[in-house]
Amino acid sequence: MTDESTGSNRSDAARNTDEMFVAESDSPRLIKRLDLLEVGAVPEGDRIVGRNNEIEALVSNLRPIVRGEPPTPVLISGKTGTGKSLVARHVAETATNVAEREGLDVADIYVDCSQHSTETRAVCATARAINKVAGSPRDIPLTGLGASQYYTYIWELLEDFDAAVVMLDEIDRIQPDNDGNQDNILMQLSRAREAQKTDTNIGIIAISNKLDYPEEMNQRVRSSFGDAELLFPPYDANQLKDIMRAREDAFYDDALESGVIPKAAALAAREHGDARKAIRILKNAGQIAEEMQDTVVREAHLDEAKQRAEADRVAEHVSTQTPHARHILLALALLTKNAEADDGEDGYRTTAVYDAYKIVCEQEGTDPLKIDRVRQLLDEQAFLDIIECRRTGGGHQKGTFTAHRLLKDPDVVVEGVGHDPALVASDIGI
Ligand SMILES: Nc1ncnc2c1ncn2[C@@H]1O[C@H](COP(=O)(O)OP(=O)(O)O)[C@@H](O)[C@H]1O
Ligand SMILES: [Mg+2]
Repeated sequence: MTDESTGSNRSDAARNTDEMFVAESDSPRLIKRLDLLEVGAVPEGDRIVGRNNEIEALVSNLRPIVRGEPPTPVLISGKTGTGKSLVARHVAETATNVAEREGLDVADIYVDCSQHSTETRAVCATARAINKVAGSPRDIPLTGLGASQYYTYIWELLEDFDAAVVMLDEIDRIQPDNDGNQDNILMQLSRAREAQKTDTNIGIIAISNKLDYPEEMNQRVRSSFGDAELLFPPYDANQLKDIMRAREDAFYDDALESGVIPKAAALAAREHGDARKAIRILKNAGQIAEEMQDTVVREAHLDEAKQRAEADRVAEHVSTQTPHARHILLALALLTKNAEADDGEDGYRTTAVYDAYKIVCEQEGTDPLKIDRVRQLLDEQAFLDIIECRRTGGGHQKGTFTAHRLLKDPDVVVEGVGHDPALVASDIGI
């Protein structure tokens, strides 16, 4: 009896679990190929929309590699999401493949300097990447060596290749050394043959999100780049539409309401034409529709999709930085929300942000940084696109001061730094 009843209980449980699976598979699935909506995925060449001129320019810069000749280094700049990384990787990969067909062995090297933001770390990452492509003949330690030793590894490892394409992405994130140099790595790589460090042809593609990076470059380095500066303009709404349409097969047939792509394009084009944002909005809208068990992705899902995309972007931005970057952003976001309630204010002085930041630190159980360091973090491009710092006239007898203003919706920033968007200043005693 007991056995029987246990048995029947077991089968009840089994049936419930069955039902869960059935319920799950019955819920609408709108997204067929999530990979097409992942940012960072390099779409096949024919899915790269509206960048033919840039691709052609880059190809003509790298073409010497395929002929066994030294190429001119190239500097690409443009705002985020304008296809810089995508186009560079696509062209580098193609150059490598074509060269291989010609019997040349080319190392295709990509380094994201935002993840390796000093010269030493970036050279280390470059050396390790070449080592990997070479089949890891060396044991290159992550730490403990100076930049010059990592350069030596690079020259040694390059012996085994006919050429290399080295992409240094987000090069503007490399912090200046004690002498204020931030482009020594470009100097070393672009002058390596001349300085007889190596015979291997090196194609350098330096990529910057900062439009004025070329002006900041050391004159000698800049001159080795010659005229090879490529500016990637923002996409317009039509190009963003095309970029999204080229990925429509990420969704099942008829899963997208017809207005979704045009509206997503319009939303993404509003600040500057950022393809990453456009694709994120589309992906989020699909996921929101699925979460809501809707049968189609609707225009009505797009506002929340945009908000999530922006919060993700903030989160991504701060993920590579000290936790204090998050605390500072939270402080400014909460101040901004307060100001909205009592009629708005046009930015905050460093001291006001600092006072609020200290309260955030107390809440987080962490010691605050000194005000000078906070000022420095606020001024750095660390917060590029999130915060604006302006010198401001303080009015009669107040002199001028720096005002910090949030460029994003404060709820988005609060969410992006890991809090409930509904959090307000008084909740934590600001
Ligand atoms: N021209 C394009 N065609 C198709 N997809 C694009 C295009 N430009 C950008 N994307 C998509 O947007 C993402 C972000 O582009 P990315 O090259 O990383 O921008 P950037 O490096 O300028 O910030 C890419 O991974 C890709 O998915
Ligand atoms: Mg990029």
